[in-house]
Formats: sequence, C-alpha cells, structure tokens
Amino acid sequence: MTENTVVIGAQWGDEGKGKVVDLLTEDANVIVRFQGGNNAGHTLVVGSRKLILHLIPSGILHEDKKCLIGNGVVLDPEVFCAEVDTLNELGISAGPERLKVSYKTQLIMPYHKRLDTLREEKKTGADKIGTTGRGIGPAYEDKAARIGIRAADVADPELMRQKIAKALPEKNALFEHLFQVPPLSPGEVFETIRPFARRLVPYLADVSTEIDQEVKNGGKVLFEGAQGTHLDLDHGTYPFVTSSNTVAGNAPAGSGCGPGIPERILAVVKAYTTRVGAGPFPTELKDETGDYLQGKGTEFGATTGRKRRCGWLDLVLLGESVRLNTPTGIALTKLDVLSGLPELKLCVAYKYEGRQVLYPPQKENGLAGVEPVYQSLPGWEEDISGVRSWDLLPAAARNYIERLEDILGVRVTMVSVGPDREQTLFR
Ligand code: GDP
Ligand code: IMO
Ligand code: MG
Repeated sequence: MTENTVVIGAQWGDEGKGKVVDLLTEDANVIVRFQGGNNAGHTLVVGSRKLILHLIPSGILHEDKKCLIGNGVVLDPEVFCAEVDTLNELGISAGPERLKVSYKTQLIMPYHKRLDTLREEKKTGADKIGTTGRGIGPAYEDKAARIGIRAADVADPELMRQKIAKALPEKNALFEHLFQVPPLSPGEVFETIRPFARRLVPYLADVSTEIDQEVKNGGKVLFEGAQGTHLDLDHGTYPFVTSSNTVAGNAPAGSGCGPGIPERILAVVKAYTTRVGAGPFPTELKDETGDYLQGKGTEFGATTGRKRRCGWLDLVLLGESVRLNTPTGIALTKLDVLSGLPELKLCVAYKYEGRQVLYPPQKENGLAGVEPVYQSLPGWEEDISGVRSWDLLPAAARNYIERLEDILGVRVTMVSVGPDREQTLFR
C-alpha cells in the first residue's frame, strides 16, 4: 500500500472489511478505527486461526503495526479490556506501545447498554430496530448532549465520578418511570467501571498527533470503517441505521486528521447482499436461494449470532454508495459463495410510485416501497475458492464482475474467494 487508505462497507455491514483491512495492513504503518464501537464484528482468518474483533482495529495481528482508536468511536472499557486479554492470551501483544485510544473517545457506560436493551424490548413489531444492544445509540446521544464521559476522564477518577452523577438523573427518570426498573446509583456505576477505567489509562494518547507524525515521517495510514454505508446515521435507511456516520467522509473527522490525508478509498462489496437486524431490503430472498446464500456464506452475525438476511446484489443501493463515498476501487468479497447457482440476478433499477428510478428514494423508509428490477446473468458451477488469478476465474464470474464495474463505474481491484488471507486475487 503506497497510499493512505480508507476502507468502508458499501452495503449493510459484514461485507468482509476485517479480512480486507488485515490484508492491507501489511503495507500500512498505522490502522485507525474512526466510528462505531463493539457493535462491529470483524472476522480475521489466518490459516486455522479465526478471530473476531469488535473494537480493536483489525491490524492488530501484525505485530509491528500501530493500532489507534479515534475520537469518533464509542468505547466500552469492559469490552476493550476483554479484547486486550484475548489477544494477549493468543500471544498477540496489545499493549499501550502499539495500541492507543484517543483522549476524546466517548465511553459506553453501563447505563447506555441498559437503556439500549430496555428500549428495544419496549418497542413492538415494525418499530424494532434490532440493535446489537451494546449501548451504541445512547452513548452517541450523550456525546451530542454534551454529557458524555470521555476516555481522558479515566485519568481523573474524581471528575469521572462527578460526570457520572450528572449524566445519571435523566436516565434514572427513564429507568424508574418509563421502564419501571430500579434506578442506578452513581457510586455503583463508578465502582463497576473503575477497574476497567484504571486499565485504560496507559492507553490514552493524542491520536490526532500520532497520525500527523506518522504521515510526516512518510508512514501510511489505514482507516478501518465499521458497519456499512446504508447503516449511516444520515444517509442510511433511517431509522433502521446505526448511530454514527459510516461513510468515508467521516474517516478524517473521526480520527482527527484533515480531509486531505486519505488518498484512496476502497469500498468493500459483498458479491450478494446481507442485512442483520430490521429495515427495508428490496432484493431480500425469502426462498431457497436465500437459504443457499445464508448457508453457504455462513451468514450469521459476528456480534450477535443472529441469522443474516440474504439477497441478490443491489446495484441501485451500491450506486448511492459510490456517490456517497467516491471509492477509487472496490474489494469484492465472497464471490466463491455464488458458485453453484445456475442464474444470478443483479438489481439495476427500482420501480417506485409507478416510475423506474436509479437511486433509492430519499423519503423516510422509501426503500420499503420499491420493487427491484433485475438483469439476469448466467452463473457458474466451478468451485473458485482456490483461484488466485483473474484469468483463471470462470468466464461467467468475470462477466458478473465486469457488469458490476460497467454499471457502477468503479474498478474491482481486489476479489476475495474465501475467508483466508491467501484466498484473494489482485487486479
Ligand atoms: P466485516 O464486519 O465487514 O468485517 O465482515 P464479517 O467478519 O462480519 O463477515 C464476513 C464473513 O465472511 C466472515 O466470517 C469472514 O471470515 C468471511 N469472509 C470474508 N471474505 C470471504 C470470502 O471471500 N469468501 C468467504 N466464503 N467468506 C469470506
Ligand atoms: P460490522 O462492522 C451489520 C446493525 C444492527 C442494527 C443496526 C443498529 O461488523 O459490519 P446498533 O447496535 O449499531 O445501534 O444497531 O445496525 N449493525 C450492524 N449490522 N454489521 C455491523 O457491523 C453492524 N453494526 C450495527 O444489526 O440493525
Ligand atoms: Mg461484521
């Protein structure tokens, strides 16, 4: 990698960002997470070893690289410590010399997780978002309300105690009177969080300066996105979204560098579409083809274990992802999962309110009212998981990719044909 690169998901998450970031890490010096929290589940497979990371950047397996958690992330101190411990048990050093957390990173507190779960439980039917229950939304709410606890506060226990006492009364009013559960005491919250907070202190760093110095010394930065473009708080299928901006434009803001730093934007696209949690999904397949993709692709949520909903590739949705992220290339993943399907369908337009449209409707939940227009392409039978060069891919697979490139106007620079690092072709 010769350029500072942003890696983002172009669909509804779980595109295979973890694998792509792990691969690109080889040529990077620093890997930084810039949004989201442990709602993410990024899977890394190296030989027989499989590891799912929720919070720590996927570059951590490469021992000589620095991993940073930026200001745009919401960090659960308990999850951070558990992930550090897991890595250390696996013999991967995850100490403060190579893993750093921005002073400005917001912390997920026990009351955020409780609120997230209680709200989801109270919602009924079509109102349920199907959040991961990790406290993500409530933590970002407190950030915007200016009552968030920031990572820097862990170095000043008295300040943290005071801030918890200020943030709690509103939550307790909800706990007691809306949800009818016992209130939390500030002291109890402080004591719960204290052992993890203490361990976080040595990891605190000025991430913005870390990135700046790395760039000045000629080092390369890899920005690791979480979730996907259509889960973006502003641009996604609101209200069925996460609570952060997942688009590439948030990479500099969420890590503390200027927008001129990223030089390359890689959009990770799964060769079909999946979605976990609620929300509209025009190309969803509720038939045996959907079951085939779910089974062959082992489509289970890496964070919650829920079955992922599966469907055909949606180029209308991806057209919007291209408009929102201006990717310089696409990493196409899980192409191997399509082997064995006689016919493949690409959604190339939507029928919406009696017209044919090429972009998702912008009004709230408009996507729930569209009908996909498909183009049919021949599939291929061959197992391609062992293929390592473009020319050796079946003609139908190359045709599928070229059709996608023509419609999106972006080149597929990387094709993934299996979970392992080795199962990748570069073009
Ligand atoms: P992320 O959240 O975007 O990092 O993606 P996840 O890790 O949640 O989900 C992607 C899943 O697909 C993981 O289990 C990966 O190991 C797996 N995976 C990644 N690339 C490929 C591929 O090309 N083929 C297959 N069969 N599996 C893949
Ligand atoms: P990675 O990084 C897929 C979904 C949840 C839910 C919605 C809101 O692994 O691609 P939240 O807990 O964020 O408030 O939930 O967003 N969601 C994801 N779906 N991949 C993810 O991350 C996700 N992170 C959140 O399922 O629908
Ligand atoms: Mg995932």
